[in-house]
Amino acid sequence: MITLKEFARRRKQLMRMMGKGSIAIIPTSAECIRNRDVEFPFRADSDFYYLTGFREPDAVAVLAPGRKHGEYLLFCRESEPAMETWTGRRAGTQGAVDTFCADDAFPVSDIGEILPGLLESCDRVYYTMGAHPDFDKRVIDWVSQIRQGARAGLRTPDRFISIEHLLHDMRLYKSRSEVRVMRTAARVACRGHLRAMQACRPEMTEYEIEAELLHEFRRAGMVPAYPSIVGSGENGCILHYTENRDRMRDGDLLLIDAGAEYDCYASDVTRTFPVNGRFSLAQKALYEVVLAAQAAAIKQVRPGNHWNAPHVASVKVLTRGLVKLGILKGKPAALIKKEAYRRFYMHRTGHWLGMDVHDVGDYKVGGEWRELEPGMVLTVEPGIYIAPGSRGVAKKWWGIGIRIEDDVLVTKDEPDVLSKAAPKTVADIEAVMAAGRPAA
Ligand code: GLY
Ligand code: MN
Ligand code: MN
Repeated sequence: MITLKEFARRRKQLMRMMGKGSIAIIPTSAECIRNRDVEFPFRADSDFYYLTGFREPDAVAVLAPGRKHGEYLLFCRESEPAMETWTGRRAGTQGAVDTFCADDAFPVSDIGEILPGLLESCDRVYYTMGAHPDFDKRVIDWVSQIRQGARAGLRTPDRFISIEHLLHDMRLYKSRSEVRVMRTAARVACRGHLRAMQACRPEMTEYEIEAELLHEFRRAGMVPAYPSIVGSGENGCILHYTENRDRMRDGDLLLIDAGAEYDCYASDVTRTFPVNGRFSLAQKALYEVVLAAQAAAIKQVRPGNHWNAPHVASVKVLTRGLVKLGILKGKPAALIKKEAYRRFYMHRTGHWLGMDVHDVGDYKVGGEWRELEPGMVLTVEPGIYIAPGSRGVAKKWWGIGIRIEDDVLVTKDEPDVLSKAAPKTVADIEAVMAAGRPAA
């Protein structure tokens, strides 16, 4: 878990970068109706949680570096025992101060009376427009109020700055405890994938396998970091297939893209394996190409290499492999140049990973691919997807979708694969599936 001390350290660091005379306003996400009286499970906004460790909805953090009467203010729901009987415990303003280390806390219903006063004394406001449209309107209203008072001598903040540049750069570099949390999330994701392999049999349904993943996530107190993708046969060629409702056929592959979230940190792991436990010759041939592409890409995850190096490496291996198998025709170098592989490999090799599964952080700096540095975590996830009916491609390849995805930490030297516990060689997968689930 991330400690309260670390949350405090993050706030201090951000305030140092903001400087005196500025204020940051960071709302959390709103609760969202699923249907009538039922809400979607609430998940705090990542930026807000990163700075507060506070998991309740209806809250706004305010940072005012150098403010005499407290630099960290938390607006949150008040304690209300009658309400809490229905909807669960609340920290209340007292808890915000005592437990979450706010210098001061106010009921969120009072924010309209308090915040304009705080804005008046600042010349720079750090606030990200667009992420919370309803709250945007309120911020604009408060600033207009102050403008109207300008004739009466009130000062108006003259600069609005998106907080993302500072905050998202901080989030890109993971601390030791963040890496620990992410390793734990990845380990639990791997347990889910292993359990899925052990349970999988022809004629089972995709949702039964989803249940196996959930079993491992929930028993570790975690939730899925994103809707699990459990796609058998040609469903594996749909990148974000989440219906998970088909019966799995003997002779098909099953692609599972599922990650656990722990303390608001995601893992993101994909494995592809045969429903019946044995790869066919065609499946094995393609699988080995993707696996080799992934190995080549992971090798590039080193400090000093640029963000795109793993992608370049995987494209090279995938294209050569597709040519060798007769799926692409021509010279690999020319095919890479005209991006012929994109017909079968239409996504990129990875993304930053952290509190958000597609995590924040710039991929380019000054127009150039960013250099990898220790502490960054990214996914490496090459794949090949041969849609059924692909013209000019032999029928035996149709409907095969393969992706292999791991979570990789950039270190001083060797790449550190956080999700290495999930089997991925043909031999390991076939051995695990032949053994089945160990007796409890
Ligand atoms: N699970 C989404 C992705 O792999 O990017
Ligand atoms: Mn991914
Ligand atoms: Mn994924």
